[in-house]
Amino acid sequence: MSKKKVFSGIKPSGDLHLGNYLGAIKRWSEEQSNADSIFCVVDLHAITVPQRPDELKKRTLDIVKLYIASGLDPEKNNLFVQSLVKEHTELAWILNCFIPMGWMEKMTQFKEKAESNRERASIGLFDYPALMAADILLYDTEEVPVGEDQVQHVELARDVAKRFNSLYKKDIFTIPKVVLNKETARIKGLQDPEKKMSKSDNGGDNNLIYLLDEPEEIRKKIMSAQTDSFNEVRFDDERPGIYNLLIIYEAFTGMSRGDIETKFEGKGYAEFKKDLAEVIIDGLKPIKEKYHNLTDSDVEKILKDGADKVRPLAEKKMEEVKKVIGLL
Ligand code: AQP
Repeated sequence: MSKKKVFSGIKPSGDLHLGNYLGAIKRWSEEQSNADSIFCVVDLHAITVPQRPDELKKRTLDIVKLYIASGLDPEKNNLFVQSLVKEHTELAWILNCFIPMGWMEKMTQFKEKAESNRERASIGLFDYPALMAADILLYDTEEVPVGEDQVQHVELARDVAKRFNSLYKKDIFTIPKVVLNKETARIKGLQDPEKKMSKSDNGGDNNLIYLLDEPEEIRKKIMSAQTDSFNEVRFDDERPGIYNLLIIYEAFTGMSRGDIETKFEGKGYAEFKKDLAEVIIDGLKPIKEKYHNLTDSDVEKILKDGADKVRPLAEKKMEEVKKVIGLL
């Protein structure tokens, strides 16, 4: 039986944090044996907002190192960088011509990211979902494991795929579906637990734990995380600060909620936070060690091989698309 086809990616718009790890990479690596997966670093998505060239290049390689250090095996998965396969942008343009403005205007991430500065936001930021749809549809993807923030974009990819297939009366595109792990789908900021932890967050560094943070920084950030005055360690989504910390604890330890609550019964937040900091430090330690053992040239070779493997699939899909439209 053939394995399910999976595609996902992360944009190199900042250093990776616990949300990216728990909401995306950790789950990808747990599922990798059951799937034929493509994991991309979507650098063309990163440039929808200004990036410094030297940082962009370094972060792109860093993300691949962190993919591998977190357990993604380059022998089992295709790892590559989006801009190395030009069919992504080619298909994005074509999809643009099939996506009504009304659909795009409903995308909440653009509204959040452009905020009050809508007039100055790039067309690329507005059009981001078309490029993401192209990423997914090029490879006959069946499943897209993402965090909650990306669900709307995958739905747009489904909608444009259905529209295209129905207009040309041919199943050119596979209709992808979202795979969401509900609990870790939205890790919140430590200082602002109402909002998701985000790379380009301007809520300050204390709001995020980066995967490469030093143990002392992790302890400091966790100890200063916002909670409430109840001082009772219990899973209660009405209390977003402690709930978020408990979700992180659960994800790292694999313990049941009941066992976690029992462990901390009668103990206050400070004791729980101290334990949580150590759990995170221990969980990230092997990742950091592997990350530091990978060189840029190891990773560049993996990326070149990955792009060489997926490019023929992308070329074949573009040929089908162009033929059915009448471009070939
Ligand atoms: N806080 C989060 N909790 C759970 N999952 C998350 N993801 C991101 N933040 C959280 C998931 O990580 C993957 C990579 O996302 P991305 O880099 O393509 O873009 P993003 O979702 O916009 O990530 P950021 O960190 O918020 O970046 P910026 O601030 O640059 O936009 C996706 O699967 C995402 O759902």
